Amino acid sequence: MGTSSSFLLEFLRDPRSTAAIAPSSRRLAERMLEGIDFHAARAIVEYGPGTGVFTRAVLERCRQAPREDRVFLAVEKNQRMAERLAAAEPGVRVHHGDALEVDRLCADAGLGGLDFVLSGLGWPSLPAPVRDGILERTAALLRPGGEFRTFGYHIGLLMRGAWEFRRTVRRLFSEVTISPVVWGNLPPAFVYRCVK
Ligand SMILES: C[S@@+](CC[C@H](N)C(=O)[O-])C[C@H]1O[C@@H](n2cnc3c(N)ncnc32)[C@H](O)[C@@H]1O
Repeated sequence: MGTSSSFLLEFLRDPRSTAAIAPSSRRLAERMLEGIDFHAARAIVEYGPGTGVFTRAVLERCRQAPREDRVFLAVEKNQRMAERLAAAEPGVRVHHGDALEVDRLCADAGLGGLDFVLSGLGWPSLPAPVRDGILERTAALLRPGGEFRTFGYHIGLLMRGAWEFRRTVRRLFSEVTISPVVWGNLPPAFVYRCVK
């Protein structure tokens, strides 16, 4: 089964957690990683990799900027997706679990002072305590100057959770910028760049 059809199947099984009917586009992945200095990125964490569109883009850049000491950890709540990604991409340590446990996972992996965290989570549909808990832990785990990148759907701005998410990142990070909309993504989306 292709990645798009297996993604749609997971959406039908659990729409709230999967939060999208199709994987992100390559163009959105490019926008998510724009300007990140991978030579300097030692500790990288991804939340909600799904079928791995962002994961593969990160791995490509890591290959172009190799570092012996780099650790790339991904946390995926959906067991089937986690298992498929782990089998397909040995360059990333895929953990089947909840991004809310990121502090424990990083401690277990001996990871501190994260350089880069990227997320595919559907923030507006997450319960507020889960959303805020993940964001607070992310801000605490990043090194000063480290970056958190995530995306929002343009249509998602109709949901109150999208505006609560915006308020929370503005409280937790010293700089928050929002990219122009990537219209070629389904649905159209923009990227939040949050610097600690
Ligand atoms: C909108 S999809 C994005 C998938 C992929 N990053 C992409 O852009 O195509 C959200 C993903 O987050 C996962 N997810 C949802 N809640 C999660 C949580 N609390 N911790 C880790 N993963 C979670 C879902 O299983 C799904 O794979």
